[in-house]
Amino acid sequence: MQAVGMKAEAVASILADKQDCDVLIAAAWLHDVGYAPGLATTGFHPLDGARWLRHVRFDDRVAALVAHHSCAQLEADERGLRSDLDAEFDREQSAVADALWYVDMTTGPDGQDYEVTARLDEVRSRYGPDHIVTRFIDRAEPDIVAAVRRTEDRLKAAGNQPM
Ligand SMILES: [Fe+2]
Repeated sequence: MQAVGMKAEAVASILADKQDCDVLIAAAWLHDVGYAPGLATTGFHPLDGARWLRHVRFDDRVAALVAHHSCAQLEADERGLRSDLDAEFDREQSAVADALWYVDMTTGPDGQDYEVTARLDEVRSRYGPDHIVTRFIDRAEPDIVAAVRRTEDRLKAAGNQPM
């Protein structure tokens, strides 16, 4: 979470709007807050985290970005929670959302940098072939990779090397 938050602070320079930068950085630091045992209710961390953020009246745009981070809709599908997720939180499709997916999906569990496809393989090998998360990753790969590539293009256009 720390590495993802710090990467977001570095990547935020591609966003022209100061508020977008602040939203990205907050969402990056908070994106996995739903793993905290004290606030896990469904066991699906994007939804649990977003509900908690809304409950504590955190910025609603940040809550919605957390709800939908890294293609959460498709994992929600696998878990029978897609209608709850979609009913409660709008999915923002923007450079901010792409950048959030980028910082998450190019950072490994110990904070190390990953190329996105290697990161997806790392998730698959951690969970094993029959796990719901692996099924989700298989379905989500095209959308996740597309968001990462769009962000890499924006980084290059801004004169930065992708991390
Ligand atoms: Fe996550």
